[in-house]
Amino acid sequence: MDKQFRKTVIAGNWKMNMTPSAASAFIKTLAPMVADADCEVVLCVPAIDIPAAVDAAKGTNIHIGAENVHFEEKGAYTGEISADMLVDAGVEYVIVGHSERRQYFAETDETVNKRTKAALSRNLKTIVCVGETLTQREQGITEETVSLQTKIALGGVTEEQMKNIIIAYEPVWAIGTGKTATADQADEVCGIIRGVIAGLYGEAVAKATTVQYGGSMNAKNAAELLSKVNVDGGLIGGASLKTEDFTVIVKNG
Ligand code: PGA
Repeated sequence: MDKQFRKTVIAGNWKMNMTPSAASAFIKTLAPMVADADCEVVLCVPAIDIPAAVDAAKGTNIHIGAENVHFEEKGAYTGEISADMLVDAGVEYVIVGHSERRQYFAETDETVNKRTKAALSRNLKTIVCVGETLTQREQGITEETVSLQTKIALGGVTEEQMKNIIIAYEPVWAIGTGKTATADQADEVCGIIRGVIAGLYGEAVAKATTVQYGGSMNAKNAAELLSKVNVDGGLIGGASLKTEDFTVIVKNG
């Protein structure tokens, strides 16, 4: 399972942080710092920041993503944003099924699957988040939990569409807590996810699919996490709000 077959993707997830003007200033500062990156550099930003972020990232190697997408094409869904709208605004990536969406906004494995398919239907590169809670880890059901989440999220996704899928393994207990999974724990579960993909689509697809780790990845622990054979990048919250810290992570990608 050699890393050379897949892309390393370092993606920031700003969550509900940064105004449009702050986003623009941040990206203009960051761009020269990451210009020589060997990995794919992505910033997933709040919906209202997208036009400013896309504009600021023009001509740079920074790709802009959204933090969510609705599953319907259009219609009476007040407050929601469709895949078409994201694509038209210049968005290339989208996060689906983040644990905060699952926890605070009643996302289920089924709606994550619907959003994934809607994003893929418009060729958005889709970062699907999976991960166990602390209770689930303590009960010894991490493997079952992430396997089930991955399988349901990918229901109806074709082998061809897998080219646009990234899975982010984000243990819920490590998000925003300062508690990082050890590099071995991250490697183990990213490997389990790759095994699930192999079971669904075969070894070649599994080998080519990017599986990120997310959860308190920072400038200090990134090198060790990213050195692991099954960890093909990171989904980074807190540390993606600081240009220096995010740059260190990118340089390790
Ligand atoms: P964190 O967030 O890096 O702040 O833990 C990661 C995420 O939620 O994607």
